[in-house]
Amino acid sequence: MIYLVAGARPNFMKVAAVAKDLDKSGMPYKIVHTGQHYDTEMSGSFFQDLDLPVPHIHLGVGSGTHAEQTGKVMMAFEKVCLNERPRLVIVVGDVNSTVACALVSAKMQIPVAHVEAGLRSFDRSMPEEINRLLTDQISDLLFTTCADADENLKREGIPDDRIFFVGNVMIDTLYRYLEFAGESDALQRLGLLQGGRVRPYALLTLHRPSNVDERTQLERLLEVLNRIHRKIPLVFPAHPRTVKQMKEFDLISYVTYAEDVSIPDAWDSLRHLLMIPPMGYIDFLSLMAKAKLVLTDSGGIQEETTILGVPCLTLRENTERPITLKQGTNRLVGRDPEVIFHEASKVLEEKRGKTGMPKFWDGRAAERIVKILAARFKTEIA
Ligand code: UD1
Repeated sequence: MIYLVAGARPNFMKVAAVAKDLDKSGMPYKIVHTGQHYDTEMSGSFFQDLDLPVPHIHLGVGSGTHAEQTGKVMMAFEKVCLNERPRLVIVVGDVNSTVACALVSAKMQIPVAHVEAGLRSFDRSMPEEINRLLTDQISDLLFTTCADADENLKREGIPDDRIFFVGNVMIDTLYRYLEFAGESDALQRLGLLQGGRVRPYALLTLHRPSNVDERTQLERLLEVLNRIHRKIPLVFPAHPRTVKQMKEFDLISYVTYAEDVSIPDAWDSLRHLLMIPPMGYIDFLSLMAKAKLVLTDSGGIQEETTILGVPCLTLRENTERPITLKQGTNRLVGRDPEVIFHEASKVLEEKRGKTGMPKFWDGRAAERIVKILAARFKTEIA
């Protein structure tokens, strides 16, 4: 039996791609949902949109401090592994659930495969960087999205024969669902379609602790984002973490908060950027694909915009995905309001250039992964 671990929102699109190809291979697997993200908006709607089965095993850990969350996942996952010893555990990405399940498996001497290995921001103040470093050290098979990830792993002493450059499973899922995104009515609901034409708009996501956990920084960002909103309507599907912080810091007055999105024709009178609840995968993809500009501190969105050819400004000081700067549409603009405003203005005035396509971001990464796994494990996994 293979266990395929899903914990938080950015995991679900990666797991969906791997699950589809495991289905084809005939190797038996179970999806283990740790419950790190648990509500409909952050989890349930993704299972629906991505045609994922109801998780076979649900650990139901929920939120907590890093230690609480990681510890709870470890305790619950160990129990499950003791019950039915899986032959292989697949973890994806860099969230707390990833490192927690990898650690349990490694100590039980169950082989671990890490999908999206080797990405490095070289910034250890990011919790995800710690998760990446540790997960890669204890994984047996490391599947990478780009050549610089291979180099990072080799530098850290990972033997060559554990590293497999296979491409990007998140992009597999993007290609698979792009046509459904075309049928989404999200633009309509947001009043961004006028007489069948898309009204130019920009899209924002923001949830990194470095941007939202400190009041002054968050306020500075909201101020400049409103300046951008005066140039182009700005839509902000907000992560629950960000909403919580904005309420706590009394910063909600910086946005128009539409908990129920239905504001056709109101754009001209919206003084502040429009904050809405988190969106499902397909609706968000449709919004991203048609945006003039995306502003974000997410990791995956830097990759998705590269493939969609949509300019992306990353509001961070570093990125673990430098390939999107070299070959894609991404620009690292940091957190200085003047720089952000200047770069956003520049993008809005520029003509859209051609975008690159990093090697193996071709919709077949999961196929490559499953082929490698089948060659190693097929006879043992039943
Ligand atoms: C996590 C990941 C991050 C990823 C992000 C994407 C880690 C260390 N971080 O950060 O890498 O980019 O997910 O979303 O694993 N909450 C809800 N509903 C939910 C889930 C969370 O309201 O379904 C709230 C929690 O109560 C908590 C906050 O959101 O207050 C943060 O959730 P948590 O999973 O701890 O970390 P994220 O910031 O989401």
